[in-house]
Amino acid sequence: MPGFSTRAIRAASRVPSAPQPPVNVPIYASSTFEVADATELAELLEFARPGHSYSRYSNPTHAALEDALAELEGAEACLATSSGMAAAHAAVLATVRAGDEVLLPRAVYGGMVGLAAAVLDRSGIGHAVVDSTDLEALTDAIGPATRLVWLETISNPTTAMADISAIAAIAHERGVRVAVDNTFASPYLATPLSSGADIVIHSTTKYIGGHSDIIGGAILGSAAFIDEARHVLVNAGGNANPFDAFLALRGLKTLALRMDRHSSNALAVAQGLEGATGVERVRYPGLASHPQHHLARATLRDGMAGGMLAVEVAGGRSGGERFLDALRVAVHATSLGSVETLCSHPASSSHRQLSDDELTAAGLSPGMVRVSVGIEDPDDLVEDLAGAARAAAS
Ligand SMILES: Cc1ncc(COP(=O)(O)O)c(C=O)c1O
Repeated sequence: MPGFSTRAIRAASRVPSAPQPPVNVPIYASSTFEVADATELAELLEFARPGHSYSRYSNPTHAALEDALAELEGAEACLATSSGMAAAHAAVLATVRAGDEVLLPRAVYGGMVGLAAAVLDRSGIGHAVVDSTDLEALTDAIGPATRLVWLETISNPTTAMADISAIAAIAHERGVRVAVDNTFASPYLATPLSSGADIVIHSTTKYIGGHSDIIGGAILGSAAFIDEARHVLVNAGGNANPFDAFLALRGLKTLALRMDRHSSNALAVAQGLEGATGVERVRYPGLASHPQHHLARATLRDGMAGGMLAVEVAGGRSGGERFLDALRVAVHATSLGSVETLCSHPASSSHRQLSDDELTAAGLSPGMVRVSVGIEDPDDLVEDLAGAARAAAS
């Protein structure tokens, strides 16, 4: 009879058969999968047959998340990644090579600027920046080396909206692909592929997870493109992990309910703050005063505009800091898209290296506070944020 350790390892590795399927997707916490023979393993490693060999390549829990996201975004295929930035990185590298250029919007998540400056640049991939709400400027900015136009459905942090179908038409005429970061809208409010985008990425860390407890991402597109991206991701090691994929799947089940509430709460907060003491400007696509309010109404589901707003408070940089110090319900923390209201001040955090003039050139302002409106009771949020704006002005 084998010894105790041998029996313990064998006994504890027996996978139960489950004739009644579980209601939830199991967490396949297994880095590797037993194969029948060398041929099977070789074919699995080349994705030449269905199944799983090693979790950097694929894993059943990741696959369940990928199938669900592909269905909701209307994509042929999806790849779950370890973070939103891993998704952006693999999506870009699957599209461009040394000597090519990526066109970024002026108002874009700071991580994209970091990726372009710190990573792509080293690989000989250049980038240019344009105000992507100005279609003429965008057309002029597409040069002979441009291979990819990067957009955000709703931009971080300024809430500028991308006219995806118009930009896709301009880019495609010039043989250039369009990738859209759909993190702020989520697939419930917008599906950029149906508007002509070629690639969608998500930080599932945000609305899809929805509870500030995971870091994850996803790439979506045609089956051929996802094959390309998979080669980048597998070789660079940007795969998801099964625990976070499970939580992202759980988050998807309540995404619609949460986005409805995020949107109605954000509209109440935006209306409550617009014109209030200490508030110089509220940028929220659901307000008639937003420069792309009509685009928001035309492209986002049922007149909703999501949970993100940018509030310019009085008093510049120090006003923004006073605002955060005065919060009692909302939490001063980076990140967004969660059930709790999260506030951050780009001028003293993500963009602290920029002067006031540089902030303005990037479409921000020194007193701008980014508010990710949660799903708390709206009256409590309006009272808390209006009180913080009064404190900023004092
Ligand atoms: C719009 C947007 N895209 C991508 C990312 C990167 O996501 P992650 O932090 O999951 O890498 C973020 C993070 O804040 C974001 O706001």
